[in-house]
Amino acid sequence: MASVLITGANRGIGLELARQYAASGANVIATAREPDAATDLAAINGVQVEALDIGDPASIEALAAKIGDQPLDVVVNNAGATGGGHQSLDDLSIEDWHDALNVNTIGPLLLARATKSNLSASGNGKLMTLTSQLAASTWPMGGMYIYSSTKAAVSKVHQALAIDWKDEPITVALMHPGWVKTDMGGPHAEITAQESAAGIINVIDNLGDADSGNFYKWNGDIHPW
Ligand SMILES: NC(=O)c1ccc[n+]([C@@H]2O[C@H](COP(=O)([O-])OP(=O)(O)OC[C@H]3O[C@@H](n4cnc5c(N)ncnc54)[C@H](OP(=O)(O)O)[C@@H]3O)[C@@H](O)[C@H]2O)c1
Repeated sequence: MASVLITGANRGIGLELARQYAASGANVIATAREPDAATDLAAINGVQVEALDIGDPASIEALAAKIGDQPLDVVVNNAGATGGGHQSLDDLSIEDWHDALNVNTIGPLLLARATKSNLSASGNGKLMTLTSQLAASTWPMGGMYIYSSTKAAVSKVHQALAIDWKDEPITVALMHPGWVKTDMGGPHAEITAQESAAGIINVIDNLGDADSGNFYKWNGDIHPW
């Protein structure tokens, strides 16, 4: 039975990933900042809910201590934030930018480091980090300075990680999950969280050693950098 860790799983794409992995029989550890309020997540059979604030290194260490040395086949760095509403050049919030860097960039890399031995112990570990098409230099769009820069940074550090872990039994990949109807994507987005999660799981299922460092779209296409 596969063991899967998913962050930010109390709503949106993370909740749907937890639902679909649990339905497939996987052993799912799913995190929320406020586990007691994560009622939709707790209602899923076979899901172990744990606390995690991905922007807080101590919280990442506490989660790692709780997981201990159990093997993890899949870690999905899903938790993410837009970085506040102030993202035009005239009203940029530096505090929001620092917070978003912690949540979108530094936290996911620290979680990768904290779960490296668990992924290795699987013998075929897969680390999937959710980034965005807005992170790609091939996606020209103005504004969204905080979100796009912190997602571009998380893409880059995971590309570096894939190179540094080339001799480890761990495949590292990046995912643009589509424009998804969630609190973040809004009601006019193109696909549902169910469609996005199904696509992401399909990509993860088919990852092989040679795919480490790749950047995917939810439908399995390679995303240009
Ligand atoms: N939706 C889209 O169109 C779209 C497009 C491209 C990329 N993405 C990426 O896909 C991922 C999931 O997005 P979504 O649409 O499902 O977003 P969402 O509905 O806004 O959900 C975001 C999730 O991240 C969690 N989160 C935020 N800050 C956190 C923190 N400091 N520590 C732990 N968890 C935190 C939230 O928990 P709380 O409830 O506690 O805030 C929530 O569970 C994100 O990385 C996002 O950037 C989404």
